[in-house]
Amino acid sequence: MATAPVSNIDVNVVPLADVKLARLEDLFDRQCDEWFSLLRWDYTGPSRLIRNVAREGELTGFAASVNGDVVGFAFYVIEGSRCSVGDIYVAEAWRGRGVDRRLTLSILEHIEKVPRVRRVESQCLSIGNDGIDELFVSRGFERFNRQYLMINLDSPSQSSRRPQPVSGKARSLPDVVIRPWSDSDFSRAAQVIHASYVGQHDSKINAQYRTEPGCVELMSILTDTLWCGKFLPEKSKTVIDRSSGNLIGVLIASKIANRAGHIGQISIAPAVQGCGLGRRLIEATLGNFRESGFETTSLAVTKENFRALHLYQSCGFRLVHSFPVFFHGW
Ligand SMILES: CC(C)(COP(=O)(O)OP(=O)(O)OC[C@H]1O[C@@H](n2cnc3c(N)ncnc32)[C@H](O)[C@@H]1OP(=O)(O)O)[C@@H](O)C(=O)NCCC(=O)NCCS
Repeated sequence: MATAPVSNIDVNVVPLADVKLARLEDLFDRQCDEWFSLLRWDYTGPSRLIRNVAREGELTGFAASVNGDVVGFAFYVIEGSRCSVGDIYVAEAWRGRGVDRRLTLSILEHIEKVPRVRRVESQCLSIGNDGIDELFVSRGFERFNRQYLMINLDSPSQSSRRPQPVSGKARSLPDVVIRPWSDSDFSRAAQVIHASYVGQHDSKINAQYRTEPGCVELMSILTDTLWCGKFLPEKSKTVIDRSSGNLIGVLIASKIANRAGHIGQISIAPAVQGCGLGRRLIEATLGNFRESGFETTSLAVTKENFRALHLYQSCGFRLVHSFPVFFHGW
């Protein structure tokens, strides 16, 4: 990879389908290294899947090159009327020079010409991008902030709090049992996730939260694919109301690298939120990860989801990476 010149650069943006995978490999490798060092996430599995699609010439998006070297890529996926920006990534040496903006502009100009697309979401982790905010906003997108948080499990438990009903709400702890995930929990868990996000910012950012079928899709991604790490059913948990036998809470845990755990989803049914169940689920899961020799656990949260953010911080999670997310419907 060439060194960045100090003066103006001549960036050439071309469709990814026209670029041979060999010219992208170095960039994909750099991205995996960066994910691991920043997020403690071994991204080689998902990266391999993306490379396979690129190899077939079917990754829809653009590559940016300077003097023949590929220095950035961005891609998107259209499903029905919804388009998700999958990634916008620029090699570290070429950041701060508008390459991310050029790639994003190419994507948006292209998507805007696809008549069936009624909604665009960009939730990628956006490492090192500093030129896309103004572009998304100027094209009518709304923006929220997401935070990637991590807890170091080597240090002694950082939360010694007892679960308590939220003051002012006077909710008492229901009689519950917390047990490991079972496959039969899938449908009811999707219903609880759907109910828990009604009226939340996250359901604006990710349209899947707005419907039960959308939450089923989301659960499938978490439990059947590598995108959020390798699903760990034995560490994932459900909360069961003893009196009714109903599932009223769920936590989905995965492994994203050797000794690195991740919480991909946590939801408590609205009627029993604020009773301390979310805290119990997190603490039980962190305890399981610790017992199994995991060193870290991470998760992502919308900064404006104050309740969840407060919960995670009070359990000992700390900020590792902030990134903007965007959405626009028309
Ligand atoms: C976020 C969520 C998992 C927390 O679970 P919970 O059982 O409701 O939370 P807990 O009762 O364990 O309370 C955890 C903290 O959040 C705060 N909190 C909980 N409910 C609250 C409410 N209704 N209003 C204000 N604060 C609240 C409490 O103050 C508590 O902190 P404290 O112990 O220092 O007082 C749950 O509310 C939920 O499912 N929300 C919708 C889905 C969601 O946002 N998931 C997380 C995505 S990252």
